[in-house]
Amino acid sequence: MNRFSLIVLAPLLFTACGPTETEPESETSYHRDVRPIFERSCMGCHTEGAIGPFTLTSFDDASNYAPLIKTAVQNRTMPPWLADPGCNNYVADPSLTDDEIGLIAAWVDEGAPEGDPADYVAPLDLTDDNADEQALNLDVELSLPVAYVPTLEANDDYRCFVLDWNEPDTKFITGFWTFPDNAEIVHHVIAYYVPPNHVAEVQALDDSDPEPGYSCYGGSGVNDAEWLGAWAPGAVSGPFPAGTGLQVRPNSKIVIQMHYNVVAGTGADQTRVAFTLADQVEKPGFFALLTNPLWVTDGAMQIPAGEKGVVHTFELGLDDVTDQPFTVYDASLHMHQLGENGSMWVDRATGERDCILTVSDWDFNWQLSYRLQEPLVLQPEDTVAIECQWDNSAENQPIINGEAAAPRDVAWGDGSYDEMCLGILFITGAE
Ligand code: HEC
Repeated sequence: MNRFSLIVLAPLLFTACGPTETEPESETSYHRDVRPIFERSCMGCHTEGAIGPFTLTSFDDASNYAPLIKTAVQNRTMPPWLADPGCNNYVADPSLTDDEIGLIAAWVDEGAPEGDPADYVAPLDLTDDNADEQALNLDVELSLPVAYVPTLEANDDYRCFVLDWNEPDTKFITGFWTFPDNAEIVHHVIAYYVPPNHVAEVQALDDSDPEPGYSCYGGSGVNDAEWLGAWAPGAVSGPFPAGTGLQVRPNSKIVIQMHYNVVAGTGADQTRVAFTLADQVEKPGFFALLTNPLWVTDGAMQIPAGEKGVVHTFELGLDDVTDQPFTVYDASLHMHQLGENGSMWVDRATGERDCILTVSDWDFNWQLSYRLQEPLVLQPEDTVAIECQWDNSAENQPIINGEAAAPRDVAWGDGSYDEMCLGILFITGAE
């Protein structure tokens, strides 16, 4: 169609819709511009039966929530992904670029125009989360011992369940999957490996709580339990880095910490977790915990009542703990409710610094594990460090029964009103 016929047609088209003369063509379009972004970065959670409080799967959804969406993406509260982009690069990063945020904002400002469905181009898949369960060849599947109904006293219920590990031989876990049963209330799942010599401790915790499982918050409640994996909606889950695996001995237990949030739904949940196993792996790995032992045992991590901007830093010369280089693949941070920000980095013997993970806006609800695009090799001559900052002022207190608690002195502990500053690194020996 040439220019001339366009000009002639335009008035005819618009008279059909009413008296308006010419409406400017919108610059942005749902189908062309924002739908692929939502599909890539939002729909893991904002879909029927998932944890998001509404679906974001159609034009109607998107236009209904347009103003809220603009605020959430501009504040970077959505999608929840807390790793600072300036620190390192991670696999399956769903976060939005400045251009994408600008595009969404412009679309909202234009009145959320639908545009032409023919302009839609599917986004690239970020993760293989949707991979067909059948095709996975899962070796071990465990489910919570009962269908558990979270308590409704608070919005959040943290509950640990002890599961039997029945493999008769030593194996390596090469992948960890979570299949939330009631996805509306399952906010987070962390699996811990409890070696045979600590099984009695978790059993005692389980026995002492009359309800199914036992109440737990900062971890499994057993100091020597090892991380096996964490899952949150939208986060990387599935296979461990190629060639790696975690050794699990016979007569161990698996503890599953469930974080239920009953804002978006209610009901019972009997989540399943599953593992792929191997008899041997090329690079046996484990989760190394980075923290100052004196914070844990000597009360050296004081966060005084009423104080803001409290910082604790711990540096570890690696030659104190190893004479071998090792490789870091995945990193996550763990603090509780008063946490403001945290970071882990390596100071090289050469004087350079490599950032591993920085979370500059800590959110206890989104404890994700971040997989480095380029694994980092650390040398015994290097120093690894962790730093956390807390806000213990009156404005930043946990809400208990609808009221903000009074600030109190806080130190390291497992409870919901204690704090932690823990780095969790998945490592193997470097070849
Ligand atoms: C990992 C899961 C997840 C992803 C991915 C996600 N959301 Fe959310 N979203 C939630 C949950 C859960 C809530 C409820 C509030 C909360 O827990 O933070 C929420 C709340 C919201 C809200 C309500 C306002 C608010 O800030 O609480 C908006 C708007 C929103 N999301 C938009 C988006 C958009 C747009 C994307 C993609 C760019 C997105 N979300 C990606 C889980 C997710």
